Amino acid sequence: MQNTVVVGAQWGDEGKAKITDLLATKADLIIRYQGGCNAGHTVVVGDKTYKFHLIPSGILYEGKTCFIGAGTVIHPETFEREIQDLVKQGISTKALKVSPLASITMPYHIEVDGYSENTAKKGKIGTTKKGIGPTYTDKIARYGLKIEDLYSKEALSEKLDIILPLKNKQLKEVFGLKTYSKEEITTLCEQYADIFRPYVAFDWQDILNEAKKSGKTVLFEGAQGIMLDIDYGTYPFVTSSNPIAGGACIGSGFGPTMIKEVIGVSKAYITRVGEGPFVTELTDEIGEGIRNVGHEFGTTTGRPRRCGWFDSVVARYGMLVSGLTSMAITKIDVFDNFEEIKVCTAYKNSKTGEIYKNYPTNVFIHKDLVPVYESHKGWMSDITNCKNWDELPQNAQKYLKRLEELFEIPISIVSVGPKREQTIILK
Ligand code: GDP
Ligand code: IMO
Ligand code: MG
Repeated sequence: MQNTVVVGAQWGDEGKAKITDLLATKADLIIRYQGGCNAGHTVVVGDKTYKFHLIPSGILYEGKTCFIGAGTVIHPETFEREIQDLVKQGISTKALKVSPLASITMPYHIEVDGYSENTAKKGKIGTTKKGIGPTYTDKIARYGLKIEDLYSKEALSEKLDIILPLKNKQLKEVFGLKTYSKEEITTLCEQYADIFRPYVAFDWQDILNEAKKSGKTVLFEGAQGIMLDIDYGTYPFVTSSNPIAGGACIGSGFGPTMIKEVIGVSKAYITRVGEGPFVTELTDEIGEGIRNVGHEFGTTTGRPRRCGWFDSVVARYGMLVSGLTSMAITKIDVFDNFEEIKVCTAYKNSKTGEIYKNYPTNVFIHKDLVPVYESHKGWMSDITNCKNWDELPQNAQKYLKRLEELFEIPISIVSVGPKREQTIILK
């Protein structure tokens, strides 16, 4: 395997973790490059189910270095809890490294996220309330805290003298929330320093250099999805980081020349959690059927996911903005008992009649968009034990071939169930 980015090609929850877990067998270094504990990644191995939020799923394999990169935001308590849960399940976290440049989600970030979501009416994003947006806001505004700040008392003290007066003014006057004393934050930071101490990779440059020079295989694990990207997604209904493949460079510290393959992950249908436009959304019993059969409830928040038919406008857009070299299609088994399966090939503006083949990025026109569908016959049989392409029923093959045609890149992996072995590798 060459150095590969695995990126969600929809609105998240595409089954990225399952695909990362598969590819991790061939990787030496696995890097999470953006996002935080808003992510919910599930990996099923035998009769065990592992849930990840921050830690790369590659941790399930001993001896692989797992690195949480500079582009991530880390809530220390969640990080600690996730490690404890893994250790309880017999997984070693010795090979876990955290970039000293990663940003820290502080308690006030979570409070501000909660406040914004609870008080917003029309502009509600439907965030995970994990403090993601406010942490990235502070990072970009240049008054965030990074993990390396925890290990220099003087630097931290100087930083807090700059950050806290501003932060407290904002917390009190803008949000009407409680303020924090320097002592409180300093004590918290001491606890955070202890949490991260075994994992901080102050030698991250050596780790990256060594990987480069010795030709190690690097797997970049995306969180969220292309349509939730802060720059290319359905803004403002997005997350605050760059899940697109380009984000892998910024968030890991490797340059673009290191990346050879970009695998997009798409479900055979599409889902979304939270607010925002979703042209192929099904609010009827078909959508309900997909949700029930596909167990489409959020890993992080438990919210029911909105479900809809496969959207090739989204897939083509993802192919462009992430430079996908192939696509992995997951959860096609969810359609085993569907007589008819639809695919959206374009959007139509119901007012003007205009047809869109490219994704219209101005979300405010989406209320006028309707999907243009084509219909496919289902296969009406259980495909969860299919081991190769030839074992797939003809109608499933036809459906996949048509998707390939529509998004103009090959399908490299077909997933027919949550388990590792329920996978058909094509290329
Ligand atoms: P991620 O956030 O992209 O990693 O995806 P999630 O883990 O949030 O959601 C995907 C869910 O679908 C998980 O519960 C997986 O175990 C499950 N899953 C992954 N691939 C398949 C598949 O091919 N078929 C079925 N039925 N479930 C799958
Ligand atoms: P994984 O990695 C699906 C969504 C939220 C909300 C928007 C902004 O499991 O695919 P945030 O808390 O990030 O500020 O919320 O993004 N969202 C996700 N949806 N899967 C995820 O992660 C998500 N992470 C964030 O529901 O709409
Ligand atoms: Mg998920």
